[in-house]
Formats: sequence, structure tokens, C-alpha cells
Amino acid sequence: MLDRNFLLNEFPELMWIKDEPLRDKCIEAFLDALEQGGWDETTVFDCPIAVTEMSPECPVRNFSHVHDVLHMCKAMCDWYIPRYEEYVDCDPDIVLAAAFLHDCCKYTEYTMKDGKPGYTDKAALMRHPLAGAIVASRHGLPDKVVHAIATHSFEGSKSYVTPEAHILKAADNSSFGYLHQRFHS
Ligand SMILES: [Fe+2]
Repeated sequence: MLDRNFLLNEFPELMWIKDEPLRDKCIEAFLDALEQGGWDETTVFDCPIAVTEMSPECPVRNFSHVHDVLHMCKAMCDWYIPRYEEYVDCDPDIVLAAAFLHDCCKYTEYTMKDGKPGYTDKAALMRHPLAGAIVASRHGLPDKVVHAIATHSFEGSKSYVTPEAHILKAADNSSFGYLHQRFHS
């Protein structure tokens, strides 16, 4: 069953988010996206990282990608925030919450049809960065988390970018780019 315990088991990284109410809102928002997309505990691991840019042969699915981005964000926070805290105001909880949620609406944008990845009808209106930002906002996530989700891909390429959003974008680009080079289609 896709519930709070499922996500806490799958993502022990959630415990890195120190603010408990923030962590709870992240879990509720992610579960909402999964439910909207109609995924269950057996199909949820099949959701791809991308439909058009990545070969179906890519063995890394969205769950694994979220782990990658969480770990890269944590590493960057651990290094940069103490090093530059005098000059840059950056909240690691905001970075980690946004990292966890940044691709949650790939579960509303993508679907599996006859074992092959495709797009849902919702994808025609907006991609996962904007859809994810809306889900996060509806669940009461702070504006900085909503902003980082909204700007993490090309939708945010001309936007002001907070330090938290900058870290997320860098981690996501690196994780996606590393696989894209090998498995682009
Ligand atoms: Fe991503």
C-alpha cells in the first residue's frame, strides 16, 4: 500500500529533514501525486526518469533518481552551507524537501502503457515542475520549496533562483545528465 510508511521505508533520507511538520507535508504531497497518477506499490518503481529523452533501456527509474538527487543535495549542503554561511543564506531543510518532491509529478505526467512509458493527458497542460509546485503549494509547503520545484528544469531558466533552488538544479542536472549521456534516445 502506498502510504506514509511505504515512503518512510523507501526513503530513509526523509529523516534528514529536521523540521517534522515540513517532512510530513512532503510525504503527504508525494502520496497525493502518486494517487493522482494511479500508481500502486507494484507499479511505482516502473516510472521512468524521462519519456522522450531517455532510452527505455536506462535501468534507473524515477525512484532511484530521487535517491540520487537527495544524496547529491545532502552532500552539497554539508559542504557548502558551513563554508559560505557568512555570505549565503541557505536552508538545508528547504533543499532536501525540494529534492524529495522535485519530480513527484512525473507520477502525474508519465504513465506506463503496455509496458512502455508514455504521457498522461495532464502532460499536455504542464510538465512536472509546475504540476509539482502546485501539489506542493496545496499541501502547505513553504514558498521556497514551491519555487525550487517550479524552477528546477527549463521552466525556470530565466527565473530568479534561490540558493536552495540552485543546489537542487545542479544536483538534478548532474544526475540526469550523467545518465542522459549514456542512455539518450
Ligand atoms: Fe529530477
